[in-house]
This record gives sequence, C-alpha cells and structure tokens, in this order.
Amino acid sequence: MNLVDLRSDTITRPTPQMRDAMASAAVGDDVFGDDPTVNELQARAADLLGKEAALFVPSGTMANQVAIRTHTEPGDEIIVESGSHIFLYEGGGFAALSGVSAHCVPGERGVLSAQQVAAAIRPPGGLSHFPNTSLVCLENTANRGGGAVYPQETVAAIAGVARDAGLRLHLDGARVFNASVALGLPVAEVVAPFDSVSFCLSKGLGCPVGSLLVGRRAFVDRAHRFRKMFGGGMRQAGILAAAGLFALDHNIERMAVDHARARRMAEAFDALPGYAVDLGAVQSNMVYVDVAGTGLDGDAFVAALVERGIQAHATGATELRLVFHLDVDEAGVERTLAAFSELAA
Ligand SMILES: Cc1ncc(COP(=O)(O)O)c(C=O)c1O
Repeated sequence: MNLVDLRSDTITRPTPQMRDAMASAAVGDDVFGDDPTVNELQARAADLLGKEAALFVPSGTMANQVAIRTHTEPGDEIIVESGSHIFLYEGGGFAALSGVSAHCVPGERGVLSAQQVAAAIRPPGGLSHFPNTSLVCLENTANRGGGAVYPQETVAAIAGVARDAGLRLHLDGARVFNASVALGLPVAEVVAPFDSVSFCLSKGLGCPVGSLLVGRRAFVDRAHRFRKMFGGGMRQAGILAAAGLFALDHNIERMAVDHARARRMAEAFDALPGYAVDLGAVQSNMVYVDVAGTGLDGDAFVAALVERGIQAHATGATELRLVFHLDVDEAGVERTLAAFSELAA
C-alpha cells in the first residue's frame, strides 16, 4: 500500500513533465553567470514578485541566511517571531554565519503586530550598551502558526515601523505563494512592503531543490558574494532551475485545492470526538491537530496512522501536523478522514 504522506509539502516528487523540462534544460556555469535557465528563472522570479533582481540558491535556509548576512553587520540584532523557522530551525545560522543576535517576539499564530515590532527595537544611543537593531524578519505563511497568513494591513503597519526606524524588512516567504493564493492577491502585492523575500520551489510548488532570494539589484549583487561564501554557488544548475520555471507555470493556482482540503479535514477532525483543531489557524495547506482526547500520544497516533496507510508528523506530545500538497489526491484525503474517524475517541 502506498502511504499518503502528509508529513510535509517538501516530500513531493517531480512529475514526468517536470523531469522532461529538467532533462532538456539549456545549461552553463552559473558561478560565471552563464546558465541561461538559471538566468531565466531569476528574471522570472524578480518579475513575478515585482522586485529588481533575484538569486537562485539551493535551499530556503540558505536564502534566509544569505539575506540576514546581506542586510546586517556582526553585532547587530534582528527581530524574529519566537516560533519562526529562522530562529528555531536553521541551526542558529544567524549567530554563526552573520554574528547577529535575535530578539524573539511571540506572535499570535506566528503573526507579529506593528506594536510588538516597535517595542522590540532597541533604542539608539544607550552608551553603546544595546545591540543595533537592523532587520525585521517575518514569515508568511507562518509554519508554527498553523499556516496562518499575515493580514496585508499588518504587514503594511510593520513596514511603516521598520522604515521609520531605518530597519530593513525581510520575508521568509518559503510558502509565500500559499499566502498569495489564500489572500487572493498577486504575489507582487503580498511582498511589496518587503526589502527582500525568500521563497521555496521545493515545498508546495513541487520542485526537488531550490529557493530564490529576491530584492533590489544592489541587495542581490551583495547577496551573490555571500551565496558564494556560504557554498551556494552552483554550476550547471539550470537542470534545477528548469523545474522552477515549470512550477511557476503550472503549480501556483492549484494550491487552492490543497487549502480547501486542509480546511475540509480540519473541520471534519474538529467535529470528531477526541480531536481539537484551532480552526482559525487553518488558512492555507496545513492542519495542526491535538489528539489528546483519543488517549494516544503523538508518536502512538502517528504509528496508528501508518498502519492505516497515512504518514503525519508529531510536532508535540499530543500534536500532529498534516500538510496538503500536490502529491495528495482525493483518495488520499478520503483515506485520511477514514483513519481519523476510526481512531476517534
Ligand atoms: C517557513 C520556512 N522557512 C524556511 C524553510 C527552509 O527551507 P529549506 O528546507 O529549503 O532549507 C522552511 C522549510 O521547511 C520553512 O518551513
């Protein structure tokens, strides 16, 4: 039995059509700037996001870390949400690679307010005691926030606070196309307030590898140097970029299907005895569900799901995360619902 794999949207495998596009890609040495397919993807990404330039990098983590290094100087401080990927899941890279400290602010479902950001900015002066706050990083959609989407007016207000204080604003937009689809807004509008944006090709867009870092020309030129320093300069990377171009053509609008499925599952689980879902957080392709009421802990519940042909990720003692993506079909959704019904209290 093929398992329905809901652990993450990173588990998608390239389709035969995507593989064809990769196999026939024109390539060159991208460290020399000679790869036509990488150049095309970078131009396309910049255009799509309404920014001047873009840089292809191997991972979302590298895109964020290169962005932080490019925007800051050692000794600076960055403002991040307490459950953000940059703070929790990038190996402390901001400290090791950029020499900056992080001011963590707990958001509401991973979403910060302008007031919180304003309060987290260190005052200037202070007899040189304080670190220099130089960058604010937001995450949209917010993974640990349940896939919650930033309201546009909140982003605009935070951008105003950052601008007034002379700070840069970076978006960890690993899933920014999910945010764009959920908001029903063009992605360029979603990211307009940001100085830089990272986004992943290897999540809901269905590519095997790759992320882009997007921003002003001067920012991307400087980021190019740090990409090389961090070991992210690739050679005939057009094979990977071709998958990205294919995904931008074919895999954005369909995310609405993943969102509808996540919503349907969340509501169904919440209506069953033994499960609790924060329905307000289910705004994109994820469902976090507490299974405490079934009498099983997270690991035991995951094992029981595997017996029923489903894979999910235990994210807490009794909490599971399910992520909907393009390798899940309707039969998989039905099987998931049947398994949860069977295991209900
Ligand atoms: C919100 C967020 N940012 C960044 C990343 C990093 O992406 P990668 O795994 O490509 O390094 C992830 C990956 O899960 C993520 O969820």
